This record gives sequence, C-alpha cells and structure tokens, in this order.
Amino acid sequence: MKDLVLFVFLQIAILNCAGTLRKKPNIVIILADDVGWNDFGIHGSSQIRTPNIDALGFNGVVLDKFYTQQTCTPSRAALLTGNYPIRSGLQGIPLDAGENRSLPLDMPTMPERLKGLGYRTHLVGKWHLGAACKEVTPTRRGFDTHFGYWNGYVGYFSYDISVAINTTMNFTGFDLHNGFEPQWPLKGRYATELFTRKAVEVIDRHDRKEPLFLMLAHLAGHAGQDGVELGVPNTTAAYEKYRYIATPERRLYADIVNIMDNSVGEIVTKLSERRMLDDTIILFFSDNGAQTTGMFQNFGSGWPFRGLKFTLNEGGVRGTGVLYSSMLQKKGYINNELIHITDLLPTFYHAAGGNVAKLGKIDGINQWNVISKNETTKRTELLINIDEVNGYSGILGYEGRYKLLNGSFRNGLYNDYYGDSGRGPENPPYDIQSVLDSPTNTAIRKLAKNTPLDRTRVQSMRSALDRGWCAPRAATPLYTCDDYCLFDIRADPCETENLIGDDTKRDVIDTLKGKLRGYYEQLVPETNKKVDPDSDPARFNNTWYPWLECTPDEGHFGAAIIRRVKTIIWEFFFTPLTYQS
Ligand SMILES: *[C@@H]1O[C@H](CO)[C@@H](O)[C@H](O)[C@H]1NC(C)=O
Ligand SMILES: *[C@@H]1O[C@H](CO)[C@@H](O)[C@H](O)[C@H]1NC(C)=O
Ligand SMILES: *[C@@H]1O[C@H](CO)[C@@H](O)[C@H](O)[C@H]1NC(C)=O
Ligand SMILES: *[C@@H]1O[C@H](CO)[C@@H](O)[C@H](O)[C@H]1NC(C)=O
Ligand SMILES: *[C@@H]1O[C@H](CO)[C@@H](O)[C@H](O)[C@H]1NC(C)=O
Ligand SMILES: *[C@@H]1O[C@H](CO)[C@@H](O)[C@H](O)[C@H]1NC(C)=O
Ligand SMILES: *[C@@H]1O[C@H](CO)[C@@H](O)[C@H](O)[C@H]1NC(C)=O
Repeated sequence: MKDLVLFVFLQIAILNCAGTLRKKPNIVIILADDVGWNDFGIHGSSQIRTPNIDALGFNGVVLDKFYTQQTCTPSRAALLTGNYPIRSGLQGIPLDAGENRSLPLDMPTMPERLKGLGYRTHLVGKWHLGAACKEVTPTRRGFDTHFGYWNGYVGYFSYDISVAINTTMNFTGFDLHNGFEPQWPLKGRYATELFTRKAVEVIDRHDRKEPLFLMLAHLAGHAGQDGVELGVPNTTAAYEKYRYIATPERRLYADIVNIMDNSVGEIVTKLSERRMLDDTIILFFSDNGAQTTGMFQNFGSGWPFRGLKFTLNEGGVRGTGVLYSSMLQKKGYINNELIHITDLLPTFYHAAGGNVAKLGKIDGINQWNVISKNETTKRTELLINIDEVNGYSGILGYEGRYKLLNGSFRNGLYNDYYGDSGRGPENPPYDIQSVLDSPTNTAIRKLAKNTPLDRTRVQSMRSALDRGWCAPRAATPLYTCDDYCLFDIRADPCETENLIGDDTKRDVIDTLKGKLRGYYEQLVPETNKKVDPDSDPARFNNTWYPWLECTPDEGHFGAAIIRRVKTIIWEFFFTPLTYQS
C-alpha cells in the first residue's frame, strides 16, 4: 500500500514536471488584411486608434523583427503550412476567384496538425487558399467550421467579388458561406461586425474541456467591392471622427482599422467572460504591408519603411505582430529576435504540447521559448520570397541584418515611400488612457499573474518601437535592384542606401547570393492559372461555389487520402504524452 501511494505520488510529480496536467492552451489568431506598420498605435503614429491591439502588445510581447510574405495567398500558405510559399507554388500573384488553384493537399495545415492534438478548429473570415473543388476549402483542410469567404476579398456589405475573365467580361458572385451554405440573408451586414459576432459565438459555444483553435481572418483593411471600396458603417461619421486626416479615403480606412480594433476587444472580453483568457495564446498580426496606392489601394501607411504590399522591402514584409498569453514567462516587452511567419505553426504546435520533430521537414522553427522567455533564436536567416514569374526575390541573412534583393516587382512599382507619418501636430496626441481603459487591458488586468500596465511602460515601449528616426531626409533613388540591392536593415531599416557597390560587403553579398541561388534550385514553379470559365457564379445563383469535382485521377485527391491515413496512423502512435519541456 505504501509503495502504491509512493508510486502514485511519484507519477503525479513526474506528470507535473512534464506539465502534462496543465491544460493545452487555446490558440486564437486574429489576422488583419493589408494593414500597414504605421497604422497601429504601438509604432508611434497616433492617427488611428488601436487601443486594444496596443494593449495586447504592451501586456504581452511585441514581435519587432517578425516577417510575413509580401501578399495574402503566400502569407496564408506560409502561416498554415509552416513552409515557404516556394514549396507549394503559391509564391506569386494571389489566387483569383475562379482560378483552379489551391494549397496542395499533401501539405498538412495548422488546423489539421492541431486537430491531431485534440483541438477544435474554427475559421471565421477569409481563406484565400483555393475553392475550385470542395476538397480544398477550409472545412476539408482541417477546420471543423468555416464562416466567411473563400476568395481574396469581398464587399464590406455585399460580400460580392468580381474577377475579370477577359478584356470585356468579368464574373461577379456572392462569397459568404457557412461551410458550403451560402449566407444570402446576411447581405447588407457589416463584415467586421459580422465576423466578430461569429467568432464570439464560436467562443461562447466552445466546450472548455477541449482546446480551441480559432482563426479570425478579417476583411479589414483590404479594399472591398471591386477592389476599391473602403466600407464603413457610417461614412459621414467616419469623415467627422477622423477629420484631422487630410486624405478623405484614409479617414474611412482609419475607421475600418478602428472597428477591427474594437473586434479584438470583444474577442478578449468574451474569452475573459468564459474564463478562457488565462489559458489562451492570442496572436494578432497583419498578413503583409499596406497598399497605400495602386491596385487594391486602401490608403494604409507603412511609413517610415520603403515599399508597399507586393514588394520585398520592409514596408511589404515587416509584419506587425503582438502576442499575449498568461503562459509567457516574460511579459510587457519587445522581442527583437528574427521570427518568420512559417515559425508560427511549429511554435503553436509546441505550445500545444506537440512534438515538433513530428512535423517533418518544414521551413518554420519552434520559437516558443524565444517569444515566451526572450531566448536567443536559432533562426539566423530567412528566405523573403522568390517570385520567378515576376522576376524578383530576396533573402534576409546575418541574424536579420543584411537583406539582398534580386529584382523588384514590376520594375520598382510600389518601391518608394508612401503613407502618412501620423506624427504631425494636426493629429491628436496618443491616448494612453484609452489603452489602459480598453476592454483588452481591462480583461487582462483581471488575471492575477500580471503586473498591471501603466503609463511608463506604454511610453517606453512605444518610443523604443518608433522607427521614425530612419525616415529618409531627402528623396532617395528608386531602386529596382535589377543588379541586386543590399540593405543593412539594422542600421538602415528604411532601406535608404543600397550597399551593393560597397567592396567591404563583398563576402556578405556573395554568401547571400549563394543562399538565394540554393533556394532557387528548390522551388516548385508557380502554379497560377487563368480564371476557369466554368467557375461562372451565374451557374450557382450568382454565388461563388466549388465548380470542379476533385476526382482521384486528378492526382491531388488521391494524395489527400494517403495523407489522411498517414496522419491518423502517425498520430495514433506518436501523440505525445508530455506537454512543454
Ligand atoms: C467588372 O465590370 C464592370 C463593368 O464593366 C467594371 O466597372 C468593373 O470595374 C469590373 N470589375 C472587375 C474586378 O474587373
Ligand atoms: C470573354 O469570355 C466570355 C465567357 O467565356 C465569352 O463569351 C466572350 O466571348 C469572351 N470575350 C472575349 C473578347 O474573349
Ligand atoms: C451617421 O453619422 C452622422 C454623423 O455622426 C449622424 O448624423 C447620422 O445619424 C448617422 N447615420 C446613421 C444611419 O446612423
Ligand atoms: C531580451 O533579449 C535581448 C537580447 O539578449 C536583451 O537586449 C533585452 O534586454 C531582453 N529583454 C527582456 C525584457 O528581457
Ligand atoms: C536573380 O534573378 C534572375 C532573374 O530572375 C535569376 O536568373 C537569377 O538566378 C537570380 N539570382 C539568384 C542569386 O537567385
Ligand atoms: C438565390 O439567391 C437569392 C439571394 O440572392 C436567394 O434569395 C434565393 O433563395 C436563392 N435561390 C435559390 C434557388 O437558392
Ligand atoms: C484543376 O487543377 C488540378 C491540379 O492542378 C488539375 O489536375 C486539373 O486538371 C484542373 N482542372 C481543370 C478543369 O482545369
């Protein structure tokens, strides 16, 4: 008997050490679309109010050297597979509606991986990784439920998206679905609020005995209807509220971002009400830089960085990311380690108790201890991207210090400096009190383990994050990098000075060229296709709907079955018993 007691005691002690008794954390990812570096209060502008997002970062961790991909589809592919987009052929121009293209079915997704660890998985909002046949849509790629849209964007109220099929015709269709059910009666509801409501419902209905993975992928602040709409609930009110912003369209954009920030507050509040906040990792980030002008212009700002969405400059790929979790061992700090969007999958997989070795060969690495404890990262470099069709690529090496670019998007289009600085006297001062009073801060303050956020921390973190100092003082050349560019991102994050001709940098340049060439040799060619005339939404009551059957002889369906069987077998034998080393 005594032995038995001792045995049980030891077991409990061992389990406790391994942390097995701890609950798997809920994981909530909130994703913004095309929102720029300078559109968040944390980075030093006070033009747009984002108190909830700011409060997440000031209470948790601000990822300051966090890189995404240059546009929506590549970023989402990287996020969900942990692989550079060159592995899936999705590195180029994002998917068009009606295009028969998708995330390859033999690449497991984050929700598929997390399901293997017992998670319930939900996507609300945008997918943008294929919808030609049912097999490639979210509910067949690991999400238990999906409420939202399959394509790149929709109207903020209409949920319609058009695509040009040739020079004279375009297809227009409705794209708001619950699973495969078109949600026609919801036409007219404001997207950000509707998606927030649905995400709140997911949290409300969630059985707390199981871990939750929720991804809320907003339409905000992408340009909506026809790629130009900046939809807000009340245009007059938005023009008034943001009248200190010179460009009228940017006032609408400011309202779009502000409403998305409210959404973050609502999600955090709901997690708190359901007593789930203490067990949740919340990550907010933007999928790529702003599109101040040009196609899909949203008047966002990436100031002081160079470049817009589509470019491989900092304005295109340097991501805004904030993470909060009670599990963080260091809180309220700026993380300066190099982190790539592909790292999120292994990082969350590890935090969820998974054994990262089980993920096989992926580009992402587990950064949980880097984020949670401010440990030094093992990542020394990252491939920014290779778009071999549009002929531009880039790599970031030397612990994120040196960036080598080879070519540029459409001959330097979007490679300049754009957007408001938000630092001028016409703007209201940064409202620290609104951060402290935000629903997010209020909910986090209730958790016992935190040192309450105060003005001093807000001010010191915010000034450390401000990169205004690197803004070019005079016009700089428009580098097309046809014969490569080299930037010292540490000294010159605004990429004002091209060091390619600097002889002292010969070794750096040659090394990075060699590495970039190495990736070039590995890439899966881009799989972009023309819009399939058979996708015509007129065939489906003016609604976008999977128009192809993915039959086994189409190759990828067969691969999917084999992959599923493999996953099941693998997880049956290898689901780890321990949680968190
Ligand atoms: C679709 O066609 C209409 C009318 O020709 C045009 O105004 C609109 O810009 C087109 N939209 C797209 C996305 O091509
Ligand atoms: C455009 O596509 C539509 C539908 O396939 C077709 O009927 C029409 O002839 C095409 N127009 C041109 C100019 O190719
Ligand atoms: C929109 O905002 C304006 C100005 O704040 C207000 O007068 C008007 O009543 C609002 N409209 C609606 C439909 O709420
Ligand atoms: C995080 O690590 C960096 C580099 O070692 C260090 O400079 C910084 O002070 C650390 N921050 C915190 C909050 O520990
Ligand atoms: C640079 O780009 C050109 C054209 O796209 C390509 O031929 C070349 O191999 C690239 N260089 C490296 C080092 O990747
Ligand atoms: C077609 O769509 C409309 C909304 O645009 C909807 O009211 C109607 O019920 C749909 N028809 C069918 C047959 O599903
Ligand atoms: C759709 O794409 C798949 C995978 O690339 C291909 O096998 C299939 O033939 C395509 N179907 C059509 C109708 O284009």
